[in-house]
Amino acid sequence: MAWQTVRMNESTPNVPPVTEGTRLDPWLNSYAARAHRMRASEIRALFAVASRPEVVSLAGGMPYIGGLPLGDIGEMMRRIVVERGEVALQYGSGQGDEYLREQITQVMALESIVAHPDDVVVTTGSQQGLDIVTNIFIDPGDVIVAEAPSYVGALGVFRAREADVVHVPMDADGLIPSALEETLVSLKAAGRRVKFLYTVPNYHNPAGVTLSAERRPQIVEICHRHGVLILEDNPYGLLGFDREPLPALRSLSPEGVIYLGSFSKTFAPGYRVGWAVAPHAVREKLILASEAAILSPSNMSQMAISAYLDHFDWQGQIKAFREQYRERRDAMIGALQEYIPSATWNVPDGGFYVWVKLPEGLDSKSMLPRAVTARVAYVAGTAFFMDGSGAGHMRLSYCYPTPDRIREGVKRLATVVDAELETVRIFGAAASASQTAVDFPAPDLA
Ligand SMILES: Cc1ncc(COP(=O)(O)O)c(C=O)c1O
Repeated sequence: MAWQTVRMNESTPNVPPVTEGTRLDPWLNSYAARAHRMRASEIRALFAVASRPEVVSLAGGMPYIGGLPLGDIGEMMRRIVVERGEVALQYGSGQGDEYLREQITQVMALESIVAHPDDVVVTTGSQQGLDIVTNIFIDPGDVIVAEAPSYVGALGVFRAREADVVHVPMDADGLIPSALEETLVSLKAAGRRVKFLYTVPNYHNPAGVTLSAERRPQIVEICHRHGVLILEDNPYGLLGFDREPLPALRSLSPEGVIYLGSFSKTFAPGYRVGWAVAPHAVREKLILASEAAILSPSNMSQMAISAYLDHFDWQGQIKAFREQYRERRDAMIGALQEYIPSATWNVPDGGFYVWVKLPEGLDSKSMLPRAVTARVAYVAGTAFFMDGSGAGHMRLSYCYPTPDRIREGVKRLATVVDAELETVRIFGAAASASQTAVDFPAPDLA
């Protein structure tokens, strides 16, 4: 049904007199052009259903907070308020607390980054880091080169800031240097201005792969030669299962890389604390952009992170997380082998995600309502490409559900995949894409 257009009544009190909209949104015609490009992420649209207890969610990237010593953290929070409440509950510095910035330099040293606390800008999660970097570099129509696929939350920021995203393929060793070179050459030939390369080098979201040690200097060299800045987004670097962290791109090129870090995956996302490290001049602009948006990051959260780093065995906790996530990864891979052998996938050696390639003819986006009906959720591959391609893939996360729930979730998913395959076998791929959720019988969940 088309929404009826209404003209606001000039005599209506408290509303501007001349504007056209719809019954659903009377301000529809008042938005800036960029607001029309914003979309709810495919993950958010699913969140309400997928978080119902009967649904096994293999969709979100939510860390396993139950693994934290919550009682001790509660006591820590109480002491911060009681003993230092006048600072904790006050406004703070736009760049972030100096002591925390110093601690952050020690965290980054684990990935070979040498930085001074002055180089660090504390952000409200690395998501805000993505936003302020994009804010200061991107004019509408500028090009951002990004991996194919790319983190859905970054694509949302890039879309909102009206960037054109050009994807570059990856393989099991991460971004492919020759493909990056080719893309930059052809963009230059087409007269396009590339502002930065957006990359998640470690335990990629959603692809699960890691940029190999050999490729790191190659990527840095290619970008340097083409005058392209690198935006290195690294929330998962310390969550490898089998090896020590590889050197960050930032450690190879301090002047050519803006680095984003986060405590969301190694501690807890509820504090919303991340950081950016940038070349000197860029850093000043980042602080201005951050102050304009949020005045200052939360003092309370920053002090909580500081106290956690000072008084808890945070490296031991990361080790425990790695073991828990490894066990969950194993549960997921084992279940995929057992229940969905017709698909293919990578085996991630860290992080939260498995990137699954569905059998030929299946469409992860159109299949999703049927999966939710079968009480399992995932993120369709289409969320991770700017042009909505990727329907042949899906992202499965193993970070949050227990190993038993993961197995149950993959088993439920298998019933959906099998039914889809049967439909494709009988009627062809188009029929599978046009089925509705209602057509799919919920499996016996006993
Ligand atoms: C690659 C990547 N970047 C950034 C973020 C945002 O994290 P934060 O909680 O630090 O804002 C996420 C969250 O899932 C992510 O996977």
